[in-house]
This record gives sequence, structure tokens and C-alpha cells, in this order.
Amino acid sequence: MVIVMATDATAEDVDAIVERVAAAGGEAFVSRGVSRVVIGLVGDVDRFETLNLGSLPAVQSVTRISAKYKLVSREHHPERSTVYVGGVPVGPDTVTLIAGPCAVETPEQTLEAARMAQSAGAVLLRGGAYKPRTSPYAFQGLGEEGLRILADVRAETGLPIVTEVVAADDVETVARYADMLQIGTRNMSNFGLLQAVGAAGKPVLLKRGMSATIEEWLMAAEYIAQRGNLDIVLCERGIRTFETATRNTLDISAVPVVQRLSHLPVMIDPSHSGGRRDLVLPLSRAAVAVGADGVLVDVHPHPEQALCDGPQALVAEDLQRLAAELDALSGVVGRGLS
Ligand code: E4P
Ligand code: PEP
Repeated sequence: MVIVMATDATAEDVDAIVERVAAAGGEAFVSRGVSRVVIGLVGDVDRFETLNLGSLPAVQSVTRISAKYKLVSREHHPERSTVYVGGVPVGPDTVTLIAGPCAVETPEQTLEAARMAQSAGAVLLRGGAYKPRTSPYAFQGLGEEGLRILADVRAETGLPIVTEVVAADDVETVARYADMLQIGTRNMSNFGLLQAVGAAGKPVLLKRGMSATIEEWLMAAEYIAQRGNLDIVLCERGIRTFETATRNTLDISAVPVVQRLSHLPVMIDPSHSGGRRDLVLPLSRAAVAVGADGVLVDVHPHPEQALCDGPQALVAEDLQRLAAELDALSGVVGRGLS
């Protein structure tokens, strides 16, 4: 918090502020410039807010500088965090490849997709049992049956599961099966849902709202953190812009920006951002080059039959190539592919 004093402020006006801040357990650093005095406050900013410093004589302005999000900020936690999902690290030392079907459709399709993911080197399996669809007539997912399929596939392959939860009432059920709870773009601002996943005791993959600013995204993460869960991985999945050539616009700069503001790992979803199979590889290269902590991709054994997002799903050979390139690029940026 920074206080700028009016040009006619007296020494008594400045002392009054220093004393009030000290009485609130803080420290006031007084800088005397040529024309005015600026006072920098260090301590409990929320407590300072209650002091009503702006109403004291000769105070021109009071500006709160610390980030609005606290627990997820680097001010609070300067080291970048690693989140463990079923024992798999997601963080600054690795590039984590998560792959799987957009939607769980059948046991066979899910197992086949998981085998594709695993043989390419993916270490976590994605797959939606509850699908947030634009149209109420589109496939909505298999619900709990889909979760059972995922659990069976995990038992078969050993891959921990990342799956979306779309309603607060379902959190308990989804958390019984999942290793990581995904909050999709459409629910980034569903604050009751965020609080519920924050209390569920499972790592969370928080996608960026398609129209959310970075600050709004981090505030959403703060809702989860506030419930005592700091095992959060952020995922940039493209935002809405005027551009229609891609499904969404991948905001690649969000990765380094967020990594400076927050200690949480940040991944990229090139499938939902580009919306096209041919863009997944180039966007993934960009993700690793820019410093993303992982990549989340859709795969399908028969994309032409997919019930959701077939045009962006990779087939086995695409995924093999992607994994090989990510492996090479991870080394270039001083990380290992996990
Ligand atoms: C996929 O994971 C989402 O459910 C999908 O992208 C929703 O988009 P749509 O319903 O507009 O196809
Ligand atoms: C998904 O990954 O399954 C999904 C629905 O993505 P998004 O929320 O980014 O659209």
C-alpha cells in the first residue's frame, strides 16, 4: 500500500500516519521527495484498510499495491510450486503430457485412447464424464457410468485420471473416482463450484474462462485456495477474440505473465484453443518454448466417430510425434518430459 501526501502536508500529518500504521503492527517507510512525501506501508494490508487512512489530514491518495489474490500469488509464495497428481509431478522441472478422449464414450474407446496416450508417453489420462455442451441436445457425457469406466481404465493402465466436474452437487461423486478435478472454461466463475472443489481434497485443473482476464482467473484460483487447497494447476485454453480462423485464440503470453504473478503451475490446452488437429503440434511447441509446465491434449481412436470435438482429436501417430517433439523441446528448455 502506498500513501501519497498533499503538497502542504506537515511533519505532524506524516507522523500521525506512521504512528497509526505502527499501532496496527505495520511499518511505514517515508520518502521525502522535492514536492511531496510518499509513504510505503509494509504489513497486513487488510488491517491497514480498516484504519481509514484516506480520511486523515493531508492524505492525497491511498493505493493498495499487493495483488488481490493472495494465497496463489508469488508475493505469498515466491518459489514456483509443484502439484502432484496421483504421484505425477506438474511443475517447473517437468513438461507434463496429459492426453485422452474429450469425452468418455465407451469402455473400449476409453481404453484404446488411454493405451494411445500411454504408449506415446503421457503420464495422466484426461476424459470427460460430465460434458459442458453449448447445445442441450449434444452428448452430455455418461455421468457416473463414465467415471466407472475411467476408474477401470486406470486400474488397467495405471494412469491417474483428470476429469471435469460441472456442478457443485457432483463434486463428492467425481472426487471419489478422480485423481484431479477439472474445472472447465465455462465454470471458471462458478464460485460455489470452486469452493466445493477447494474443499474436496483433490488437485484441481483450473481452466481459464474463455472471456476471463488473467486477474479474474487468478481470483478464481484464490476461491479454491481459500478453502485450503493449494494443489491447483492453471490451464490456458484459448480466449474469445475477434479472430474466427481458430476456435479460440491461444493467449500464449498468459503463461509467462501468470508465472510471474502466481506460484501455481500453468499448462496449455492446444486442442480446445486451436480446435483443429493440425494446430495441436505447432501450438504445443509454442507452449513448451514459452515455458508452460505441461500440455493437455485430446486423442481419439476414431475421431470421425467422436461424440464431442472430433476435429481436434489426435490419432495415435500424431500423438507419438507430438510426444517425441515435446521430449526434445523439454530438454532444450532444461526440463524433462513427465
Ligand atoms: C469439450 O470438451 C467441450 O464440452 C466442448 O468443447 C463443448 O463445445 P460444444 O458443446 O460447443 O461442442
Ligand atoms: C475439456 O477439456 O473437456 C473442456 C470442456 O475444455 P474447455 O472447458 O476448455 O472448453
